[in-house]
Amino acid sequence: MPTDASFQRYSFSEIFPIEAILFDIDGTLCDSDPIHYFAFREMLQEIGYNGGEPITEEFFVKNISGGHNDDLARFLFPDWDFEKAMKFMDDKETLFRRLAIDKLEPVQGLQKLCKWVDDRQLKRAAVTNAPRANAELMISLLGLADFFPVIVVGSECKRAKPYPDPYMTALDLIGASPDNTFVFEDSAAGIKAGVAAGMPVVGLRTRNPEEVLLKAGAAIVIQDFEDQKLWKELEEDERRAAAAKGV
Ligand SMILES: *[C@@H]1O[C@H](CO)[C@@H](O)[C@H](O)[C@H]1NC(C)=O
Repeated sequence: MPTDASFQRYSFSEIFPIEAILFDIDGTLCDSDPIHYFAFREMLQEIGYNGGEPITEEFFVKNISGGHNDDLARFLFPDWDFEKAMKFMDDKETLFRRLAIDKLEPVQGLQKLCKWVDDRQLKRAAVTNAPRANAELMISLLGLADFFPVIVVGSECKRAKPYPDPYMTALDLIGASPDNTFVFEDSAAGIKAGVAAGMPVVGLRTRNPEEVLLKAGAAIVIQDFEDQKLWKELEEDERRAAAAKGV
């Protein structure tokens, strides 16, 4: 299958020494999908979508989660004029941001990983398809405004994920090589973007099952940032770095 990226799976030893890490935001730094689901469900019901029946989680996962707002506007409101549909999407993002202030939680182990990145003085960037206002709010709520010098937003690049453009832009902005950088992602589209930009991708099982992440090309799949599978790789990189210094 030529469209399946799994044939180019990378291993961690190929990127020694780690110079930089790129992070997706939604589903990777924080489990934000339940907040998006809640916001869509409330607002769609309010306007009588689906005869006033609330959308199901299945509908959300299959038809909404991870989609771009322009595509979702066309999908949800094929009979509306596009401006009006986009106004609905913007209002939904406003509700998302209001809810996120109370409800947004970091993925387990995020703080420990960020400390490790800080201690090693690695370069880093956040790379997302979310609107910039959402991205900046989430980063700030997670206490990472100083941690991330750069936030790359898909809609500000020539092409958003699953194309490699946002990840290539991030590498360029922080001055890192794909040969010494890896990516954290939780969606198939995000993993494909990272792999297409020439980097190994660690998949997080926040919302998607392991086989979906592996099929998209994830080098390894972890539950969260406390996963021993991740720390084994990071400690191995550290051990190699110490050995290289000793020579
Ligand atoms: C996704 O949307 C289509 C079109 O509205 C619908 O027929 C289908 O049932 C939806 N999928 C789920 C899982 O609800």
